[in-house]
Amino acid sequence: MTTHKIVLIPGDGIGPEVTAAVRRVLAAAHAPVEWIEQQAGLAALAAGDEVLPPQTLEAIERYQVALKGPCTTPVGEGFTSVNVQLRKRLNLYAAVRPVRTLEGVPSRFSDVDLIIVRENTEGLYSGVENQVTDDVVMSMKVATKSACLRIARWAFRFATRRQRRKITVFHKANIMKMTDGLFLRCARQIHQHEYPNIEYQEMIIDTGCMRLVQDPTQFDVLLLENLYGDVVSDLCAGLVGGLGVVPGANFGDQQAVFEAVHGSAPDLAGKGIANPLALLMSAVMMLNHLADTREDAACRATAERIKAAYNRALQEGKRTRDLGGDLSTEAFADAVIERLP
Ligand code: NAI
Repeated sequence: MTTHKIVLIPGDGIGPEVTAAVRRVLAAAHAPVEWIEQQAGLAALAAGDEVLPPQTLEAIERYQVALKGPCTTPVGEGFTSVNVQLRKRLNLYAAVRPVRTLEGVPSRFSDVDLIIVRENTEGLYSGVENQVTDDVVMSMKVATKSACLRIARWAFRFATRRQRRKITVFHKANIMKMTDGLFLRCARQIHQHEYPNIEYQEMIIDTGCMRLVQDPTQFDVLLLENLYGDVVSDLCAGLVGGLGVVPGANFGDQQAVFEAVHGSAPDLAGKGIANPLALLMSAVMMLNHLADTREDAACRATAERIKAAYNRALQEGKRTRDLGGDLSTEAFADAVIERLP
């Protein structure tokens, strides 16, 4: 059996707790992975390193796949986000977040099944800001034709491979005519010339958000530029039970970094009560990615077993506090391990 070397970044806040729980589940499931642990974020700074140490980047470049816990970014001052740096440095241009109703997880809707595809490298979110005068600051929204075409093509190809029927682009091109206008034109072009069989829809983002909270089942794949994708991901998480249940992945042409949508949750850090499920689901996405890209059937089988185990645990009412239960991080991991087929 092949063993895959995977970079593991525990991260900050609840990161080390949820990554430890996920490691335990993957070990119990005999996932064919060997962890190469690297640091990033406050943990790297505390170890006397840069916030995104060169050896962490080199390890991801070398081994190509990473599982990452959340990293804290100081608000209003301090260093640039590790996540933004990582995505830019490795050109991880496509973020994917599947948002699905889970049986046993209380939420407002019972049949949500949508996938968010977010452009990950430009837009306002890249944090290109400057001080114009003492009293004036400016933030630059950048859109390039190559990046807009690249993410649109990625989203349509992904939708086709996953047999999804429709892509909806959320935008604000009525106001940001140039940047969001370019994003839209590129999506239209890819739809018309390369993927005419996938249904295509455009929606101004404010209307889109209202429709999402009224009836998310009308959406299938959402394609958004960077900042909109960030915000709408958390909104969508709220439709299916919260940040504890939404996984994610950041894809480039060479590397892929799997991480939950949630952050380091400083309010929960050190208490042992964070939900490890979002990161566990991200690890399942990672195993499926290994199965797809390295033709390793063992990875697919392990992913299926872990998925079956956490679904059963949830159906049997095993839940952490964020989902209305009383299990600790480790107790939920135990509940999953006990149910591994
Ligand atoms: P957050 O996602 O860390 O927390 C938002 C709320 O959700 C909090 O009430 C938190 O307790 C809850 N929550 C999050 N994950 C949970 C889990 N696994 N189980 C149970 N409850 C959970 O977002 P916030 O507070 O805005 O950001 C905190 C820090 O995380 C910031 O420094 C931010 O920059 C960073 N962050 C990092 C990300 C990453 O590394 N990918 C993504 C988002 C934020």
